[in-house]
Amino acid sequence: MPQQFSPTPRELDDIELIVSGALPGPLNAPGSALTLALPASVAESAAADGAVEIVDPEGLPLARVTWPAGEVTGLSSPAYGPFRRLHLTPEQTRKAYAGRTVVPVTDALTTAEIAEIAALGPVLLLALVGHGTPSLSPVALLRASLLAAEDLPDAVVVAVPLASHDDPEADHALGVAVVEAYAGGDPIHALASSTSTESADYTEAIAAVVASDQPAPEVQGLVIFFTGLSGSGKSTLARALMDRILEQGARTVTSLDGDVVRRNLSAGLTFSKEDRETNIRRIGWVAAEISRHGGLAVCSPIAPFDSTRQDVRGYVDDAGGALFLVHVATPLEECERRDRKGLYAKARAGEIPEFTGISSPYEEPADADVRVDTTGRSIEDALDDVIEGLRSAGYLDLA
Ligand code: ADX
Repeated sequence: MPQQFSPTPRELDDIELIVSGALPGPLNAPGSALTLALPASVAESAAADGAVEIVDPEGLPLARVTWPAGEVTGLSSPAYGPFRRLHLTPEQTRKAYAGRTVVPVTDALTTAEIAEIAALGPVLLLALVGHGTPSLSPVALLRASLLAAEDLPDAVVVAVPLASHDDPEADHALGVAVVEAYAGGDPIHALASSTSTESADYTEAIAAVVASDQPAPEVQGLVIFFTGLSGSGKSTLARALMDRILEQGARTVTSLDGDVVRRNLSAGLTFSKEDRETNIRRIGWVAAEISRHGGLAVCSPIAPFDSTRQDVRGYVDDAGGALFLVHVATPLEECERRDRKGLYAKARAGEIPEFTGISSPYEEPADADVRVDTTGRSIEDALDDVIEGLRSAGYLDLA
């Protein structure tokens, strides 16, 4: 049996469209944006088996992809995700809804757009809901489109998982191909590019969907992530910040401190590059889940690698939360001078291998929202920089 692999949401969307016949395969054709990346170990066994089995996030087999040729064969229909019943293949769509004008929809429809569409006769609203595309989340775009359909004389909604590939030209071409596949010769009506969400005029019901999908910063889930060397002051700053938040009383907080996490969630992990990545991804995963429900997580691990911090950013983003990155930039000399745990001395003596800053790298973040050097400053003073950053970004007002 070929090795199983659960790809990224973007790759899953691409594979679903190839299986449904909305886009042509294979994956990884020269110049194609439809790509599948396998980790080296999976690619190796896929090449040996001649194929890899693609499974959904819960492990249900979806497709077989020959490797390295990239030819895709469907195994079962995807069953995950809200509004699954609205996901039809082009063939199913033409069978059920031929003769309608096809209107591609990528954002909540405004009152003016609904009036424009009402004049077209029977329509099929083709909601393009792939990973990373619309300004609205896929589920909110479908809720808004179903509400718009109720206000139209004769409209149906079909969902198409057309993901963004961060390449406007390629994404446009894929969009055209997908819409044509669904229209199958029926007329296509393109809406003028939509107005900005803030100024758009929606029906009351659609406005409520848009508002709940994009919560105001002060009620949005938030991950405050401190990164920096051991002894830089991360934990102390994080603790002081949490105390201030609790004193104010408006929100509850979950702490994910590096040393604390390593005693429970990440117990048993070493300080190898691989285990540090696992540690940070676990912290990021939990923090993102907290942010999904509007919660507040304060994380304070070293998190020395940029790519892992970017993974965390991705998790939080996908969960609808905001990430606020604080670089506690106290220089190594100062951390080593403090050496409160006596670890730097041991690391210099060669007793602790792979010690961050001594024998293992720390990659400084270029994307920090706030940078604080605690050298010669009181905690209260350094904390003010963080609080000011949070306030000016609109996330938390602790004044
Ligand atoms: S991370 O690199 O995976 O982000 P994490 O924040 O969890 O590190 O743990 C760092 C803490 O573990 C440090 O504050 C220090 O007390 C302890 N520690 C033990 N060994 C090491 C090491 N080799 N490098 C860095 N910190 C270490």
